[in-house]
Amino acid sequence: MNTENRYHWPHKDLLDVTQLSRHDTLHLLDLAASFQEINTRPVKKVPTLKGKTVVLFFVEDSTRTKTSFDVAGKRLSADTFALGKSGSSLNKGESLKDTALTLQAMSPDVIVIRHSSSGAARYIADLMPSGVVNGGDGWHAHPTQALLDCFSLRQAWDNIFEGRTLLILGDIAHSRVARSNIHLLTSLGVRVRVCAPRTLLPAGVDHWPVEVYTNLEKAMRDVDAAMCLRLQLERQQAGLLPDLAEYSRRFCLGLGHMELARPGAKVLHPGPMNRGLEISDDMADASASLVLNQVAAGVATRMAVLYLLATRNDGGRA
Ligand code: CP
Repeated sequence: MNTENRYHWPHKDLLDVTQLSRHDTLHLLDLAASFQEINTRPVKKVPTLKGKTVVLFFVEDSTRTKTSFDVAGKRLSADTFALGKSGSSLNKGESLKDTALTLQAMSPDVIVIRHSSSGAARYIADLMPSGVVNGGDGWHAHPTQALLDCFSLRQAWDNIFEGRTLLILGDIAHSRVARSNIHLLTSLGVRVRVCAPRTLLPAGVDHWPVEVYTNLEKAMRDVDAAMCLRLQLERQQAGLLPDLAEYSRRFCLGLGHMELARPGAKVLHPGPMNRGLEISDDMADASASLVLNQVAAGVATRMAVLYLLATRNDGGRA
């Protein structure tokens, strides 16, 4: 661990990576590394969070984030339960506020929320004394995705961020993953490039701390890693892309692009993937692909997040 024993996690909630100091981030990543070993044991359970309750409040669909928080909580012996839109009184018109206050009345220690509206996680966090984790809110932020990506890259890059170059490729405009990763990785010294058609780059991107490309071949030159983003087909109703075949021809990452990158370069994708659209089938399954490492990293990273938030007031166990 590169953090001193007396370190105390200062945050009630984890809403956005912008709230994290470099010290917070490295402490969390070190803690996740120490939890990773538990996931390889024959008996994958320790009593660390016995007696703690974690609520998974997912108002928007999820596979990876929801299940990995569930697994993370259970591996630390927390009691976890899930509430979604389907099957809850949100479907009868109950408000987000009343639903959150109802959950709070059951005295959870941590609530993980995913919502389609940017700002929903902060709204909930301001209402309740429990720790709140943003599991993704609109286009705004997805802090645990950025932390697990950072964890995966740290392992692939032998703990060295400075001097590395990462390309983020695809639908930058609508991506909370891109926003969180750009902030977190640049804060650790990584040079970040983005590449997309102009219609999928956000207004103001020229003021972001990134290099902007619209040509994939140029963008891939000498990168240490490329992160493909899901083309959010459900958000493409506004005619931002005239032709998916044309998009795929220009922006789908394939094995041939890796020859432009640095030797040993890696490929990431937060999932779910549109194979053949933003990433080719053989690229997704290649040895350079960290996609499944990211999923495994998600469990270890979310164990660390739950531990830090759930034990924050327990006398400095972190
Ligand atoms: N990466 C990610 O957030 O995946 P899910 O939508 O499946 O949780």
